[in-house]
Amino acid sequence: MAHRIAVIGGDGIGPEVTQQALKVVRATGVDISTTDFDLGGARYLRDGEILSDEVLQQLRGFDAILLGAVGTPEVAPGVIERGLLLKMRFELDLYINQRPFIGTAPGHVTPHDFVVIRENTEGPYVGEGGVLRKGTQHEVATQGSVNTRMGVERCVRYAFELAQSRERKHLTLVHKTNVLTFAGDLWQRAFNAVATEFPSVATAYNHVDAACIYFVQDPHRYDVIVTDNLFGDILTDLGGAVSGGIGLASSANLNPARTGPSMFEPVHGSAPDIVGTGKANPIAAILSAALMLDFLGEHSAADQVRAACSQPTSGSTTEIANTITARISGK
Ligand code: IPM
Ligand code: MN
Repeated sequence: MAHRIAVIGGDGIGPEVTQQALKVVRATGVDISTTDFDLGGARYLRDGEILSDEVLQQLRGFDAILLGAVGTPEVAPGVIERGLLLKMRFELDLYINQRPFIGTAPGHVTPHDFVVIRENTEGPYVGEGGVLRKGTQHEVATQGSVNTRMGVERCVRYAFELAQSRERKHLTLVHKTNVLTFAGDLWQRAFNAVATEFPSVATAYNHVDAACIYFVQDPHRYDVIVTDNLFGDILTDLGGAVSGGIGLASSANLNPARTGPSMFEPVHGSAPDIVGTGKANPIAAILSAALMLDFLGEHSAADQVRAACSQPTSGSTTEIANTITARISGK
Protein backbone atom coordinates (compact mmCIF):
# COMPACT_ATOMS: atom_id res chain seq x y z
CA MET A 1 0.00 0.00 0.00
CA ALA A 2 1.20 3.50 -0.80
CA HIS A 3 2.54 5.62 2.03
CA ARG A 4 0.25 8.61 2.37
CA ILE A 5 2.28 11.82 2.59
CA ALA A 6 0.87 15.23 3.49
CA VAL A 7 2.97 17.85 1.74
CA ILE A 8 3.29 21.38 3.12
CA GLY A 9 5.61 23.30 0.81
CA GLY A 10 5.06 26.42 2.89
CA ASP A 11 6.86 29.69 2.27
CA GLY A 12 9.84 31.02 0.35
CA ILE A 13 12.04 28.28 -1.07
CA GLY A 14 9.99 25.64 0.78
CA PRO A 15 7.80 24.61 -2.17
CA GLU A 16 10.77 24.46 -4.60
CA VAL A 17 12.90 22.18 -2.47
CA THR A 18 9.97 20.00 -1.41
CA GLN A 19 8.97 19.39 -5.02
CA GLN A 20 12.51 18.24 -5.80
CA ALA A 21 12.64 16.02 -2.71
CA LEU A 22 9.43 14.28 -3.83
CA LYS A 23 10.88 13.72 -7.28
CA VAL A 24 13.86 11.97 -5.68
CA VAL A 25 11.62 9.85 -3.44
CA ARG A 26 9.61 8.72 -6.49
CA ALA A 27 12.85 7.73 -8.26
CA THR A 28 13.48 5.14 -5.54
CA GLY A 29 10.32 3.34 -6.60
CA VAL A 30 8.77 3.56 -3.14
CA ASP A 31 5.02 3.85 -3.51
CA ILE A 32 3.77 7.17 -2.13
CA SER A 33 0.59 9.15 -2.56
CA THR A 34 0.81 12.85 -1.83
CA THR A 35 -1.75 15.43 -0.78
CA ASP A 36 -0.79 19.10 -0.90
CA PHE A 37 -1.77 21.39 1.92
CA ASP A 38 -1.71 25.07 1.06
CA LEU A 39 -0.48 26.47 4.37
CA GLY A 40 2.01 29.14 5.35
CA GLY A 41 2.43 32.90 5.12
CA ALA A 42 0.88 33.36 1.68
CA ARG A 43 -2.23 31.41 2.66
CA TYR A 44 -2.50 33.36 5.92
CA LEU A 45 -2.32 36.68 4.08
CA ARG A 46 -5.02 35.50 1.68
CA ASP A 47 -7.69 34.24 4.07
CA GLY A 48 -6.33 34.17 7.61
CA GLU A 49 -5.94 30.39 7.82
CA ILE A 50 -2.82 29.24 9.66
CA LEU A 51 -3.67 25.74 10.91
CA SER A 52 -7.26 25.13 11.95
CA ASP A 53 -8.23 22.21 14.15
CA GLU A 54 -10.00 20.73 11.14
CA VAL A 55 -6.86 20.73 8.99
CA LEU A 56 -4.84 19.42 11.91
CA GLN A 57 -7.32 16.58 12.18
CA GLN A 58 -6.87 15.80 8.48
CA LEU A 59 -3.08 15.76 8.94
CA ARG A 60 -3.45 13.14 11.67
CA GLY A 61 -4.71 10.71 9.03
CA PHE A 62 -1.43 10.66 7.08
CA ASP A 63 1.60 8.41 7.46
CA ALA A 64 4.02 11.34 7.37
CA ILE A 65 4.23 15.07 6.72
CA LEU A 66 6.86 16.54 4.44
CA LEU A 67 7.40 20.24 5.06
CA GLY A 68 9.49 22.81 3.19
CA ALA A 69 9.79 25.95 5.29
CA VAL A 70 7.49 28.39 7.03
CA GLY A 71 7.71 32.09 7.77
CA THR A 72 7.57 35.14 5.56
CA PRO A 73 8.77 38.74 6.08
CA GLU A 74 5.26 40.10 5.36
CA VAL A 75 3.91 38.51 8.54
CA ALA A 76 5.13 39.43 12.04
CA PRO A 77 7.78 37.02 13.41
CA GLY A 78 6.27 34.09 15.23
CA VAL A 79 2.75 34.16 13.81
CA ILE A 80 3.27 31.44 11.22
CA GLU A 81 6.13 29.73 13.07
CA ARG A 82 4.10 29.37 16.24
CA GLY A 83 0.70 28.89 14.63
CA LEU A 84 1.78 26.30 12.08
CA LEU A 85 5.17 24.69 12.71
CA LEU A 86 5.19 24.70 16.50
CA LYS A 87 1.49 23.86 16.64
CA MET A 88 2.19 20.70 14.64
CA ARG A 89 5.17 19.81 16.82
CA PHE A 90 3.11 20.23 19.98
CA GLU A 91 -0.26 18.88 18.88
CA LEU A 92 1.16 15.84 17.09
CA ASP A 93 3.53 15.28 20.04
CA LEU A 94 6.62 15.30 17.83
CA TYR A 95 8.83 15.23 20.87
CA ILE A 96 12.08 14.33 19.15
CA ASN A 97 13.84 16.56 16.69
CA GLN A 98 16.56 14.41 15.15
CA ARG A 99 19.22 16.21 13.16
CA PRO A 100 22.11 14.18 11.71
CA PHE A 101 25.36 15.86 10.68
CA ILE A 102 27.82 14.10 8.46
CA GLY A 103 30.50 16.23 6.92
CA THR A 104 33.94 17.69 6.95
CA ALA A 105 34.40 20.64 9.25
CA PRO A 106 36.57 23.53 8.10
CA GLY A 107 40.19 22.72 8.90
CA HIS A 108 39.54 18.99 9.25
CA VAL A 109 40.32 16.16 6.89
CA THR A 110 38.31 13.27 8.32
CA PRO A 111 34.54 13.63 8.05
CA HIS A 112 32.59 13.60 11.28
CA ASP A 113 29.28 11.84 11.86
CA PHE A 114 27.11 12.91 14.75
CA VAL A 115 23.42 13.33 15.52
CA VAL A 116 21.72 15.96 17.64
CA ILE A 117 18.59 14.89 19.49
CA ARG A 118 16.72 18.05 20.34
CA GLU A 119 13.76 17.97 22.73
CA ASN A 120 10.95 19.37 20.60
CA THR A 121 7.88 20.05 22.75
CA GLU A 122 9.08 21.91 25.84
CA GLY A 123 11.69 24.43 27.00
CA PRO A 124 11.24 28.10 26.11
CA TYR A 125 9.22 27.07 23.04
CA VAL A 126 6.04 26.45 25.02
CA GLY A 127 5.24 30.16 24.97
CA GLU A 128 4.94 30.59 28.69
CA GLY A 129 5.17 34.19 29.82
CA GLY A 130 3.83 37.54 28.82
CA VAL A 131 4.33 41.23 28.69
CA LEU A 132 3.22 43.98 31.05
CA ARG A 133 3.01 47.71 30.32
CA LYS A 134 3.97 47.06 26.72
CA GLY A 135 5.59 49.97 24.92
CA THR A 136 6.14 52.01 28.09
CA GLN A 137 9.35 52.75 29.97
CA HIS A 138 8.21 50.25 32.55
CA GLU A 139 7.51 47.29 30.33
CA VAL A 140 8.33 43.82 31.54
CA ALA A 141 8.60 40.67 29.44
CA THR A 142 8.96 37.17 30.83
CA GLN A 143 9.54 33.98 28.88
CA GLY A 144 9.51 30.78 30.85
CA SER A 145 11.13 27.46 30.07
CA VAL A 146 9.09 24.37 30.85
CA ASN A 147 10.95 21.14 31.61
CA THR A 148 8.90 18.17 32.72
CA ARG A 149 10.41 14.99 34.05
CA MET A 150 8.30 13.00 31.58
CA GLY A 151 9.28 15.19 28.63
CA VAL A 152 12.97 15.24 29.44
CA GLU A 153 13.11 11.55 30.26
CA ARG A 154 11.43 10.35 27.07
CA CYS A 155 13.79 12.51 25.03
CA VAL A 156 16.87 11.32 26.88
CA ARG A 157 15.72 7.69 26.59
CA TYR A 158 15.30 8.04 22.84
CA ALA A 159 18.84 9.44 22.64
CA PHE A 160 20.22 6.53 24.67
CA GLU A 161 18.43 4.03 22.43
CA LEU A 162 19.89 5.71 19.37
CA ALA A 163 23.38 5.81 20.86
CA GLN A 164 23.12 2.13 21.79
CA SER A 165 22.27 1.27 18.18
CA ARG A 166 25.29 3.09 16.78
CA GLU A 167 28.84 1.85 16.48
CA ARG A 168 30.47 4.25 18.93
CA LYS A 169 27.70 4.07 21.57
CA HIS A 170 28.48 7.48 22.97
CA LEU A 171 26.02 10.08 24.24
CA THR A 172 26.72 13.65 25.36
CA LEU A 173 24.26 15.73 27.32
CA VAL A 174 24.51 19.41 26.41
CA HIS A 175 23.00 22.01 28.74
CA LYS A 176 24.00 24.95 30.89
CA THR A 177 23.81 23.36 34.32
CA ASN A 178 26.12 25.97 35.82
CA VAL A 179 23.62 28.78 35.25
CA LEU A 180 20.22 27.18 34.53
CA THR A 181 20.43 25.32 37.79
CA PHE A 182 16.75 24.30 38.03
CA ALA A 183 16.22 22.98 34.53
CA GLY A 184 19.84 21.82 34.24
CA ASP A 185 19.57 19.79 37.41
CA LEU A 186 16.40 18.07 36.20
CA TRP A 187 18.06 17.24 32.88
CA GLN A 188 21.21 15.93 34.54
CA ARG A 189 19.31 13.76 37.02
CA ALA A 190 16.99 12.37 34.34
CA PHE A 191 20.06 11.68 32.17
CA ASN A 192 21.88 9.90 35.00
CA ALA A 193 18.83 7.83 35.86
CA VAL A 194 18.19 6.68 32.29
CA ALA A 195 21.92 5.98 31.83
CA THR A 196 21.64 3.08 34.30
CA GLU A 197 19.36 1.31 31.77
CA PHE A 198 22.06 1.56 29.08
CA PRO A 199 25.31 0.24 30.54
CA SER A 200 26.87 -0.17 27.07
CA VAL A 201 26.57 3.56 26.29
CA ALA A 202 29.46 5.82 27.33
CA THR A 203 28.32 9.25 28.49
CA ALA A 204 29.67 12.78 28.69
CA TYR A 205 28.43 16.24 29.58
CA ASN A 206 29.28 19.59 27.95
CA HIS A 207 28.03 23.07 28.68
CA VAL A 208 26.42 24.49 25.57
CA ASP A 209 28.99 27.26 25.13
CA ALA A 210 31.82 24.74 25.24
CA ALA A 211 29.90 22.50 22.83
CA CYS A 212 29.98 25.39 20.33
CA ILE A 213 33.78 25.37 20.46
CA TYR A 214 33.94 21.58 20.07
CA PHE A 215 31.52 21.63 17.14
CA VAL A 216 34.05 23.76 15.30
CA GLN A 217 37.37 22.52 16.68
CA ASP A 218 36.79 18.90 17.63
CA PRO A 219 33.50 17.57 16.20
CA HIS A 220 34.91 14.04 16.20
CA ARG A 221 34.36 13.77 19.93
CA TYR A 222 30.61 13.55 19.29
CA ASP A 223 28.42 10.62 18.38
CA VAL A 224 24.94 11.40 19.75
CA ILE A 225 24.11 14.65 21.55
CA VAL A 226 20.94 15.26 23.53
CA THR A 227 19.83 18.73 24.51
CA ASP A 228 16.87 20.99 25.17
CA ASN A 229 14.70 22.70 22.59
CA LEU A 230 16.42 26.09 22.37
CA PHE A 231 20.01 24.88 22.75
CA GLY A 232 19.20 22.30 20.10
CA ASP A 233 17.84 24.93 17.75
CA ILE A 234 21.00 27.01 17.98
CA LEU A 235 23.46 24.12 18.01
CA THR A 236 21.94 22.54 14.91
CA ASP A 237 22.44 25.68 12.83
CA LEU A 238 26.08 25.52 13.90
CA GLY A 239 26.05 21.80 13.11
CA GLY A 240 24.92 22.68 9.60
CA ALA A 241 27.61 25.32 9.25
CA VAL A 242 30.39 22.88 10.17
CA SER A 243 29.03 20.07 8.00
CA GLY A 244 29.03 21.65 4.57
CA GLY A 245 26.41 24.33 5.14
CA ILE A 246 22.83 24.67 6.23
CA GLY A 247 21.77 23.71 2.69
CA LEU A 248 22.63 20.10 3.56
CA ALA A 249 21.09 19.90 7.06
CA SER A 250 18.09 17.58 7.39
CA SER A 251 15.72 16.96 10.24
CA ALA A 252 12.99 14.66 11.49
CA ASN A 253 10.32 15.75 13.96
CA LEU A 254 9.38 12.41 15.41
CA ASN A 255 6.56 10.95 17.40
CA PRO A 256 8.39 7.73 18.26
CA ALA A 257 5.25 6.38 19.95
CA ARG A 258 3.63 6.59 16.49
CA THR A 259 0.34 7.90 17.82
CA GLY A 260 0.26 10.09 14.70
CA PRO A 261 2.33 11.14 11.72
CA SER A 262 5.88 12.41 12.08
CA MET A 263 7.09 15.46 10.18
CA PHE A 264 10.21 15.87 8.09
CA GLU A 265 11.73 19.21 7.13
CA PRO A 266 15.08 20.78 6.27
CA VAL A 267 16.75 22.76 9.07
CA HIS A 268 17.01 25.85 6.88
CA GLY A 269 14.24 28.41 6.69
CA SER A 270 12.25 29.97 3.88
CA ALA A 271 15.14 32.12 2.52
CA PRO A 272 12.85 34.69 0.87
CA ASP A 273 15.85 36.46 -0.68
CA ILE A 274 16.56 33.59 -3.09
CA VAL A 275 13.02 32.40 -3.94
CA GLY A 276 12.72 31.38 -7.57
CA THR A 277 16.40 32.01 -8.37
CA GLY A 278 17.31 28.33 -8.54
CA LYS A 279 19.96 28.90 -5.88
CA ALA A 280 18.28 26.93 -3.10
CA ASN A 281 20.12 23.72 -2.35
CA PRO A 282 17.50 20.93 -2.41
CA ILE A 283 19.77 18.44 -0.60
CA ALA A 284 18.57 19.34 2.92
CA ALA A 285 14.99 18.64 1.82
CA ILE A 286 16.05 15.49 -0.03
CA LEU A 287 17.93 14.16 3.01
CA SER A 288 14.90 15.01 5.17
CA ALA A 289 12.82 12.90 2.80
CA ALA A 290 15.39 10.11 3.32
CA LEU A 291 14.75 10.36 7.07
CA MET A 292 11.06 10.04 6.27
CA LEU A 293 11.69 6.91 4.21
CA ASP A 294 13.62 5.45 7.15
CA PHE A 295 10.78 6.16 9.54
CA LEU A 296 8.33 4.56 7.11
CA GLY A 297 10.50 1.43 7.13
CA GLU A 298 11.89 1.98 3.62
CA HIS A 299 15.50 1.67 4.71
CA SER A 300 17.07 0.58 1.44
CA ALA A 301 15.42 3.46 -0.45
CA ALA A 302 16.64 5.85 2.27
CA ASP A 303 20.18 4.48 1.93
CA GLN A 304 19.97 4.86 -1.85
CA VAL A 305 18.99 8.52 -1.48
CA ARG A 306 21.80 9.20 0.98
CA ALA A 307 24.35 7.47 -1.24
CA ALA A 308 23.21 9.55 -4.22
CA CYS A 309 23.56 12.73 -2.14
CA SER A 310 27.02 11.85 -0.88
CA GLN A 311 28.74 12.38 -4.21
CA PRO A 312 29.43 15.91 -5.46
CA THR A 313 26.68 17.80 -7.27
CA SER A 314 26.41 21.31 -8.63
CA GLY A 315 24.01 23.50 -10.56
CA SER A 316 20.57 24.96 -9.90
CA THR A 317 17.98 23.56 -7.51
CA THR A 318 16.47 21.45 -10.28
CA GLU A 319 19.82 20.37 -11.75
CA ILE A 320 21.09 19.11 -8.41
CA ALA A 321 17.88 17.13 -7.86
CA ASN A 322 18.03 15.77 -11.40
CA THR A 323 21.60 14.57 -10.89
CA ILE A 324 20.58 12.80 -7.68
CA THR A 325 17.49 11.33 -9.33
CA ALA A 326 19.58 10.02 -12.24
CA ARG A 327 22.04 8.36 -9.85
CA ILE A 328 19.15 6.58 -8.16
CA SER A 329 17.43 5.42 -11.31
CA GLY A 330 20.82 4.47 -12.78
CA LYS A 331 20.49 6.68 -15.86
C1 IPM B 1 13.99 25.18 13.29
C2 IPM B 1 13.48 26.56 13.08
C3 IPM B 1 12.24 26.77 13.95
C4 IPM B 1 12.67 26.55 15.39
C5 IPM B 1 11.57 28.13 13.77
C6 IPM B 1 11.19 28.39 12.34
C7 IPM B 1 10.37 28.28 14.67
O1 IPM B 1 14.46 27.50 13.36
O2 IPM B 1 13.26 24.23 12.99
O3 IPM B 1 15.14 25.02 13.72
O4 IPM B 1 13.14 27.49 16.05
O5 IPM B 1 12.51 25.43 15.87
MN1 MN C 1 16.39 26.64 13.84
